Amino acid sequence: MNHIVLIGFMGSGKTSVGMHLAEALGLPFMDMDARITEREGIPITEIFKKHGEEYFRTLETRLLSELSKSGQQMVISSGGGMPVQPQNRSYLKSIGTVVFLQTSTDILVKRLQYDKTRPVLQGGDLRERITELKRQRNPIYEQVSDVQVVTDHKSIEEIVQEIKKLV
Ligand code: S3P
Repeated sequence: MNHIVLIGFMGSGKTSVGMHLAEALGLPFMDMDARITEREGIPITEIFKKHGEEYFRTLETRLLSELSKSGQQMVISSGGGMPVQPQNRSYLKSIGTVVFLQTSTDILVKRLQYDKTRPVLQGGDLRERITELKRQRNPIYEQVSDVQVVTDHKSIEEIVQEIKKLV
């Protein structure tokens, strides 16, 4: 497949950048979290509360598997935890170009400090939680991505132009 998949931490701008990139490339856009929410008919916080994280991860893997077989080229933005599941990493290998949006912890803390929509960040000290999750996830993001873009202090348009040159 020849999809462009955006990966990276929560708050790194995958959805906004993905929408603009899709428009710039004249491709359809798919936001995995939005599609899962639409299918389940409830927000992600409710999916986690009602069925637990494992159930959400199963939905994520199912959707990724469908997308990896879809012939229609798309720009896809994923949830920050998607590449963590080993089976998802094998789908990512054959899906097209994987773009890792890298954002500093300081900027993520600012963006996420009042957020209530991300169950994996609720409770405890936000900076510590982000630091710990980044420590676990960054090596995975680096390993599965073909292209890496630092987003700090750049506009969405600048990030889109950078990705366009790289893919
Ligand atoms: C998650 C990230 C979220 C969403 C869910 C879990 C994670 O997506 O999939 O809340 O584990 O990092 P965003 O990265 O779009 O916030």
